[in-house]
Amino acid sequence: MVENRLEVNLKTMKLKTPLMTASGTSGHADEFLHLYDNQAILKSLGAFVTKGVTLKPREGNPEVRVIETRTGLLNSIGLQNSGAEKFIKEQVPKTSSYELPIIVNISADTVQEFGELAAYLVDNDVSRIISAIEINVSCPNLGEHGNIFGTSPKAVERVVKAVKKRIGDKVLVITKLTPNVTDITEPARAAIAGGTDVLSMINTLRGIAIDIDNCRPFLGNISGGLSGPAIKPVGVFMVYECFNKIAECNDKRVPIIGIGGISTWQDALEYIMAGASAVGIGTAWFVNFHVFEQVARGLNSYLLKKDKEISQLIGVATKCERKRRLRVQI
Ligand SMILES: Cc1cc2nc3c(=O)[nH]c(=O)nc-3n(C[C@H](O)[C@H](O)[C@H](O)COP(=O)(O)O)c2cc1C
Repeated sequence: MVENRLEVNLKTMKLKTPLMTASGTSGHADEFLHLYDNQAILKSLGAFVTKGVTLKPREGNPEVRVIETRTGLLNSIGLQNSGAEKFIKEQVPKTSSYELPIIVNISADTVQEFGELAAYLVDNDVSRIISAIEINVSCPNLGEHGNIFGTSPKAVERVVKAVKKRIGDKVLVITKLTPNVTDITEPARAAIAGGTDVLSMINTLRGIAIDIDNCRPFLGNISGGLSGPAIKPVGVFMVYECFNKIAECNDKRVPIIGIGGISTWQDALEYIMAGASAVGIGTAWFVNFHVFEQVARGLNSYLLKKDKEISQLIGVATKCERKRRLRVQI
């Protein structure tokens, strides 16, 4: 008998379900702990991913920071947070009550700062609560004239190397890729060359919404990141591309976490069949408080009906393309 059909492994990290929060959409610890009925959500989750943390506190971008569009959400929060010191002292200990692997999402302005921040967090996590560091490469590289780290494969490799050099194998390193590139396999390969253990994708897509009554962009920061249902096919495509074209992803030496626009169990399954070993859910949670329970329940019923385990379905949708390519070669 299969005890838990939803169990998956991300390298050394065991998850009771493949579901995670997407960074920035469920706060650090205080915000989540104050939610009504958070216990039901915790039961459905495999891991908790924190909102982005930076070395020093940040006030974030000017308001307006969030605007709803017809098919998704545009945000330009600007990484508002109280900095690494407060995070490690006040937030991390509270997350131990979740009884889940805790993944800390980090952002920085320079390659060196990424390494420094990762080392600070891991070295000061005295109770060893943090299971992984997720590097957000979708932030401006102040060392390279403000270009986004994640759009330059070389910068991605340097950041991952800097983090790995400082924390080694103490906790897993996940690199979260930006979709604002032409070929996602390039930064993915660069992250692997830098030593990442896991890849996660996608972060938000850049966009603008214009307030036609006032003839100006809605967001205080002018542009923002698009999330929600509109971006799901882009995310599924990027997971598929990496799983299909990168050997380390295909044989799960470097597993993928699929994120972007998931609001139902069918959406989650699409990501898994495209090659994701686990999935993150963000924006859907803002409109449906029960999304994690519903997705876990839906996946479980599907697996029972098919008499399968979730791990057997990772990447299955890429197999027909492989077979077709083989036929063409013959
Ligand atoms: C309000 C908001 C804040 C976010 N903050 C972060 C962040 O701090 N770090 C990060 O890597 N991604 C951040 N993201 C991106 C999400 O983690 C996720 O990659 C993206 O929203 C796509 O998933 P979704 O469509 O399920 O929301 C944020 C997204 C939103 C909507």
